[in-house]
This record gives sequence, C-alpha cells and structure tokens, in this order.
Amino acid sequence: MATGFGIDVGGSGIKGAYVDLETGDFIGDRLRIKTPAHSTPQAVAEVCRQIIEEKGVPEDMPLGLTIPAPVKNDLVPFIANLDQGWAGIDVRVLLRKYTGHMVKCVNDADAAGYAEVRYGAARDVPGLVIVTTLGTGIGTALIYNGILVPNSELGHIEIDGKDAESRASSGVKAAKKLSFKQWSKRLQKYYSTMEMLFSPDLFVVGGGVSRQHNKFLPLLDLKTPIIPAQLRNQAGIAGAAALAAGV
Ligand code: BGC
Repeated sequence: MATGFGIDVGGSGIKGAYVDLETGDFIGDRLRIKTPAHSTPQAVAEVCRQIIEEKGVPEDMPLGLTIPAPVKNDLVPFIANLDQGWAGIDVRVLLRKYTGHMVKCVNDADAAGYAEVRYGAARDVPGLVIVTTLGTGIGTALIYNGILVPNSELGHIEIDGKDAESRASSGVKAAKKLSFKQWSKRLQKYYSTMEMLFSPDLFVVGGGVSRQHNKFLPLLDLKTPIIPAQLRNQAGIAGAAALAAGV
C-alpha cells in the first residue's frame, strides 16, 4: 500500500497522520497537539518534530505539511493568521533542521482542495473546481481538470473596499455573532463575485462550519453548483501527503 504522512498546521491544532495514498484514508490514529500560543516558525517546527518522532515516520516516506499561507519555492511571502515571523521563512530548511526530514510545504487550502478533488466531493469533476475553506480566514484552491493552480489567495480579494475574509470568514461570523441568515448575505456577495470572475464548474465548501452546510448553502443563489466538502478535517492531512508523494 502506498503510504504518505501529512501534517496540518492550523490556528488551534497541529495534526498528523499516516495516509493511504490510494483512498486518502488515515492509517491509524491522528495525533493532535495544540498550536503553541506564540505560533512562531520555530515553535511550530518543534511540534512537527514531536509528531514525526512520536509517530515514527520513516525518513524516506513522502511527508507533506500545510500552513495557512502561500508557499512559493518553499518560501512564505506573507501570512495572515499566524505569527508574523513566518514571512520570509524557508519552510523546507526550517523543517529539515528540526526534524531531519525533507518536508514538502503547501498552502492549507491547496492541500484540502487537492484532497477533495482526488478523494472527496469533487472526485472526477472536469473543468474548474474552486474549493473554499471557511475558517479563521478564507482559503481557496483552484483545480482545473485535476491540476492544482497553487497559491490562489482569493480569500483576500477586495469586495466593496474590504478584504473578503474580514467580512465573510466563519471566524468573523463567530466574532460578530452573526446568524446563518446574516452571514449568508456576506457569503452570497463573496461567491457571486467569485462566480463572475472565474465562471467555475463547481464550488466546494470546506472548513469546520461546512458540517452545518444545511444552514447556509441552501440560502445562496448561484448559477454554479455549490456543495459541502466530504473529507472535512481530514482533507489538509490527506492532501499534504498526496502532494508530497506527487500522486
Ligand atoms: C491565508 C491563506 C490560507 C487561508 C486559510 C488566509 O488568510 O492568506 O493562505 O489558505 O487563510 O487558512
């Protein structure tokens, strides 16, 4: 069985598991360690070291890591929702230093989106699939005929003069105590703008709140089909492992 290992770095937890690369399923338990309050690159790399050590990940196994920021040639150009010390960091060099492993670092939404297309809700869907993750921020993945166009940052498109994720993320819903109905008006604006700009074939909506998709997806009026993610909090880990393995 082709196996990889994925680590997903989020705002509250850092999670790692072995992944069956054929199915995207976890092999064994997922290990979760709280994200350090001061989420510097070094503190996060130390947690990754603990996870890799505790799980006994072999050095030659494909190992993927997600972070909530774009990652271009292993470098983080900017970061919105973790410690600002990540900007300018070479993640591969950092992880190599802490863990001894060659780690493939990818954007969290790209990993989740790739997993949905390869193993989940958008499996075998041709054309342009846009996967959005609604969480503290808004993450996006653009996948055209199964090929990922990495590092789209469409949670930061400007709508009515405002950064979209500062209006429509589920973090904002929670902070402002918006009802699903109130929040759905903001989502409507976001997804119709995306629809106008990209003419996608399918939207997939992930992030923790997608568990409650019945409460907000039916309120949206779009021409493009919009469906909940299937892999939910498994997606980042599975996608990171798949991208690291190049499958
Ligand atoms: C970041 C993205 C990330 C998204 C979800 C945004 O603020 O800029 O890189 O994918 O949040 O975590």
